[in-house]
Amino acid sequence: MTETASISIDGKTHEFPVITGTENEKAIDISKLRDQTGAITLDPGFKNTGATKSAVTFLDGEKGILRYRGYPIEQLAEQSTFLEVAYLLIYGELPSAAVLEEFRRKIDRHTLIHEDMKKFFDGFPSKSHPMGQLSCLVGALSAFYPESLDPNPTEEEEDLTIVKLLAKMPTIVSWIYKKSLGHPVMYPRNGLNFVHNFLNMTFGQITEDVEIEPEVVSAMHKLLILHADHEQNCSTSTVRIVGSSNANLYASISAGISALWGPLHGGANQAVIEMLENIKNDGGDSAKWLAKAKDKNDPFRLMGFGHRVYKNFDPRAKIIKKACDDVLERLGINDPVLDIAKELEEAALKDQYFVDRKLYPNVDFYSGIIYRALGFPTDMFTVLFALGRLPGWIAQWKEMRANKEPIGRPRQVYTGSVIRDYVSLEKR
Ligand code: CMC
Repeated sequence: MTETASISIDGKTHEFPVITGTENEKAIDISKLRDQTGAITLDPGFKNTGATKSAVTFLDGEKGILRYRGYPIEQLAEQSTFLEVAYLLIYGELPSAAVLEEFRRKIDRHTLIHEDMKKFFDGFPSKSHPMGQLSCLVGALSAFYPESLDPNPTEEEEDLTIVKLLAKMPTIVSWIYKKSLGHPVMYPRNGLNFVHNFLNMTFGQITEDVEIEPEVVSAMHKLLILHADHEQNCSTSTVRIVGSSNANLYASISAGISALWGPLHGGANQAVIEMLENIKNDGGDSAKWLAKAKDKNDPFRLMGFGHRVYKNFDPRAKIIKKACDDVLERLGINDPVLDIAKELEEAALKDQYFVDRKLYPNVDFYSGIIYRALGFPTDMFTVLFALGRLPGWIAQWKEMRANKEPIGRPRQVYTGSVIRDYVSLEKR
């Protein structure tokens, strides 16, 4: 028998189907609620609202579980490569060696970006934030590839748009970095693996051969894999909702990049390092900053702490903390902000305020320390998050299109003035 949930309103009881996901999460299907009752649900921030059924990523915030297409994040971070994970997310299965090789070749064919895109950099002010540049450049790809505007592409056409975006993103990201230094850009070197190619374009020099250490390549694979998808978060929901209007992939991802930029979301990785630097420069008194975070009259929040869905621990943070120790040790770096981070984490985990609210370090708490050790400037951190999240955004956009989901259009409870007559300017 189908399980139902009853809702009583205006003296009448209505039944709504309860649906169960493959991991036994339950949802009340209220898609007919308004038709049947005239009422809507109100859920600011969508804390209890499922916007879609999705087969891409499963997470259980209470148990600290994260799986891409069923595979535990711990196994993928340890054993896989970023390109393989990208394929898994987008196409649903781990590729065979031959399929992965073909995918790599397809990507390699599209790593160059149109030379005219370089002109954008002449227009950006020298101190413009890399995230602003990234959302602009990714959105601009739709102007260079107008065939992507077709809302009803064939599978091959859609696939080509996806491959182009995946292939060009590392080139765009590394060029943003090079331009910020005033250095000549490095062109892609096809044949290097996806992550190595990106690092080569970022840290390589046209004046000399620069060897990218295997430890750095391996740490970068891990970081990108850990960021590759996270089900219906703010930026992913943005990508899906923008794409639901039949906006093209580049425009949808550009919107997602903008959503990611905020310090409550992906921008937290930059904010964490800035916070740790501030604490260090202020004398390193973590207790003082913890007190500020708890003070409701102080807007300061402990960046890198807390999560909408993880209420026990963030499995990505666990992996990153360990990777952070490994990377710093292998590269022989002693970063004083790491000590402050550890001290702050220890104090917060014992503090009743953080315990009561189930606030734990999230993925961004330690990622910035690794990015810094690898040589990235602070304002590039969120761009790296975007590079990692790209396959997830694409997978979710593709799934939304394949499911023929309707245009996203939430309702509201109106709280403004009731009807009133227009008053002419001279009478106001
Ligand atoms: N420092 C101090 N207090 C906090 C923090 C924090 N970092 N996070 C939440 N709280 C408090 C908050 O003030 C509230 O307290 P009260 O119940 O007394 O009003 C309570 O905890 C619940 O917080 P919320 O803001 O209602 O929770 P949310 O689910 O809406 O927000 C969050 C989640 C991630 C936006 C929030 O925890 C936060 O602002 N964290 C800092 C920013 C950050 O690290 N963001 C990265 C998230 S992980 C990367 C990603 O996937 O985007």
